[in-house]
Amino acid sequence: MTQRVYKKLPSTIAIDGPAASGKTTIGNLIANKFGYICLDTGIMYRAVALQALDEGINVFDEEAVSELAERIDIEIRPTAADDERQFDVIIDGIDHTWDIRSPQVNQNVSEVSVYPRVRAAMTKLQRQIAEQGKIVMVGRDIGTVVLPDADLKIYLDASVDVRAERRYFEDLGRGKKVCLEEIMESLQHRDEIDSNRAVAPLKPAQDAVLINSDDMTVFQVIETILDLFSEYQP
Ligand code: DC
Repeated sequence: MTQRVYKKLPSTIAIDGPAASGKTTIGNLIANKFGYICLDTGIMYRAVALQALDEGINVFDEEAVSELAERIDIEIRPTAADDERQFDVIIDGIDHTWDIRSPQVNQNVSEVSVYPRVRAAMTKLQRQIAEQGKIVMVGRDIGTVVLPDADLKIYLDASVDVRAERRYFEDLGRGKKVCLEEIMESLQHRDEIDSNRAVAPLKPAQDAVLINSDDMTVFQVIETILDLFSEYQP
């Protein structure tokens, strides 16, 4: 590993990119290295989608989903569990850490994420959490909307084939029953909605550094980001 000198560390780091581009893996590794927290904002949209499904709310009912997003209590807290989770995700008092990763949630989460009131409620929560600094925030609109003044912005991309394959092996490793075509379709479905919605669509911020990880290992992506840290000037 290269020896680097860090003059001053960026305190708020935005990592955006499409589904399964490795944002959370990279975000957690960077956060662990510097003792920062990593917030995966997708969790919040997933929580809204899951709760809507659980309460029998039609995800196309904008008013009902928006009302839900404004009253839902989402707690993301350090975990004591030993099952690969990064956090406990508590929704209205109940642990739903794994439920938010279900295929049903995957299928419906982009739909609930288009609603302006849902986004406003989640953005407010995310900004409150970011106020403490020393944070890596991962999502779709962090550099463009949530933290437009983030110290460092990264847009992590990869082709849909590479993302689907990585997700396939990740799920397989967790013992899930998986089908590559289904994963590919689900990613394409989400890419389409996330990139074309009217409010806060997925796109790189003008001042984001673009990294395409198609031909890179996790180690190489981390090294690239650490170079950006050592070049950082406030
Ligand atoms: O990162 P993820 O796959 O867990 O995100 C799930 C969905 O949440 C994604 O399809 C779109 C939405 N999302 C969003 O709209 N804005 C964010 N900052 C994070 C996620």
